[in-house]
Amino acid sequence: MSIRRVLLVGGAGFVGSHLAHALSARGIELRIPTRRVERARHLALLPTADVVGADVSDPAALDALSRDVDAVVNLVGVLHSPEGVPYGPAFANAHVDVAGRVAEAAKRNGVQRLLHVSALGAASDAPSGYQRSKAAGEAAVRSAFGTAGLSILRPSVMFGPGDSFLRLFGQLARRFPVLPLAGAGARFQPVYVGDAVAVMLRALDDVNAQGQCLTMVGPQAYTLEELVDYAARQVGCPRRIIALPEGLGMLQARLMELAPEPVMSRDNLRSMRQDNVAPDTPLPYGVTATRLEAVAPRYLADVSVRAGYSPIRTRARRGEGWY
Ligand SMILES: NC(=O)c1ccc[n+]([C@@H]2O[C@H](COP(=O)([O-])OP(=O)(O)OC[C@H]3O[C@@H](n4cnc5c(N)ncnc54)[C@H](OP(=O)(O)O)[C@@H]3O)[C@@H](O)[C@H]2O)c1
Repeated sequence: MSIRRVLLVGGAGFVGSHLAHALSARGIELRIPTRRVERARHLALLPTADVVGADVSDPAALDALSRDVDAVVNLVGVLHSPEGVPYGPAFANAHVDVAGRVAEAAKRNGVQRLLHVSALGAASDAPSGYQRSKAAGEAAVRSAFGTAGLSILRPSVMFGPGDSFLRLFGQLARRFPVLPLAGAGARFQPVYVGDAVAVMLRALDDVNAQGQCLTMVGPQAYTLEELVDYAARQVGCPRRIIALPEGLGMLQARLMELAPEPVMSRDNLRSMRQDNVAPDTPLPYGVTATRLEAVAPRYLADVSVRAGYSPIRTRARRGEGWY
């Protein structure tokens, strides 16, 4: 790998933590800014990582962080936002404004490579604000950085140790005897986070990157109901799942939005009006896609062990479940 020093913006989260481990294992120096240093303790232990408290919406802070790095990876993202048109303010901030500023700072500081993590389904006419803001973020990044040296990654939902996806379903199954489920028929093609990281490592080395979008999906599509049922069984709590009609699902989501860490929002539900799949799409760079069933049982077993932990605590990622 020709890259020696990398800035991981949003690198203290789920995907960033996996990527940081892989890069650090290759001896690559890492700068990982976060607003919450105490939650990034697991990364501070990496021998090549410098975890720093920083506000990445501040261009001056981004300039300091981007100086002397060979590559920037932007992993900033949020799942929920107050409602808004064409997207809510939290989506606008994290997916568009911060993305544009990260790209501008990378350009200003002569960084060769920019990997921008968007999402499968990003489109200006998509049904959800999340997806529309991801499309606007891609446009902002292209406009600020240009296409030379840019790769845009569009992953489907990712699973793996530390995820807030299958683990959350497993925890909900442990806590509730029946699972009323909105969007039960929506289809997803989950991709293993280790495979996504393998693609990112190859992308960092790709000297021919010209702003192309790299779709990352797993080998099989499942309905949401199948995924919830699978996770519930894996944690030893098979549950009756009641598929909710859209109206009731919206009401349930509206109530969940009142929680400090919502499990579901109306915007999430809108995103499920379109299947989140990409049939017959192999992973980029010849990376072999890992089956969900080959990986999930190992880390879902951990959910059974930690049965007393609440889903919210796990979503806050206080030091559990990475490796
Ligand atoms: N996980 C998936 O299944 C999935 C699927 C498709 C796309 N993606 C995309 O992949 C990327 C990484 O996802 P992830 O699962 O690793 O997310 P994550 O665990 O929630 O981490 C996201 C990171 O974004 C940072 N962040 C959020 N809002 C910010 C803001 N307003 N200003 C500055 N930093 C902010 C957080 O930084 P702090 O450390 O400062 O809190 C956090 O470390 C995101 O862009 C996400 O949209 C994820």
